[in-house]
Amino acid sequence: MVFESKHPLVKHKLTLMRHLATKPKKFRELIREVAMLLCYEATADLKTSDIEVETPMGTAAGQDLSEKIGLIPILRAGLGMVDGIWEMMPGAEVWHIGLYRDEETLQPVSYYNKLPTFPTVQVCLVLDPMLATGGSAIATVDILKKWGAQRIKFVGLLATPEGIAALQEAHPDVPIHIAQIDSHLNDIGFIVPGLGDAGDRQFGTG
Ligand code: PRP
Repeated sequence: MVFESKHPLVKHKLTLMRHLATKPKKFRELIREVAMLLCYEATADLKTSDIEVETPMGTAAGQDLSEKIGLIPILRAGLGMVDGIWEMMPGAEVWHIGLYRDEETLQPVSYYNKLPTFPTVQVCLVLDPMLATGGSAIATVDILKKWGAQRIKFVGLLATPEGIAALQEAHPDVPIHIAQIDSHLNDIGFIVPGLGDAGDRQFGTG
């Protein structure tokens, strides 16, 4: 399943992120905000259990999140998506996965993974702003499934039709939540029109 956000705030903020004139500080603010909005949509089906709480006026029926959530940012660019989401779900665990794309082959190369032996969360949100070839997302979901993760969702900002098709083919059970599907992947693996390199634009390294 692919969920492309229709939310005006998401579209507005994403447009600002694309703009060449947007500097890293503003870019980091925007990625944080868009990630929170996407997360709101992506977590609409989280399970809750019924509880009762005492208010100053009596007893109220309420709900408690009953699933342990893991945020899985793909380094580096996924880092900027963590903080806002984590603020909304302070009980979430954050597990970083380090992957970079080999510039020649565009294949993901793993360089950081400190997942414990057994899964500690029930729902994993894979965070990466860019789904280009889909290779990094596929490799991350492979890692999480080998770990034993049961429910995995991908949350990103921009995707190509090629990246979506690849992720869906490799992992049809993983819903894809995205701010916008762009035109295509170019011959050096960039999303067009895209926003450039999301890592460089956050960290000022471009
Ligand atoms: C970029 C981006 C994704 C990946 C997407 O990372 O942040 O992680 O490429 O491409 P794919 O769908 O073709 O795998 P990059 O390798 O530039 O590393 P960085 O985030 O550390 O800059």
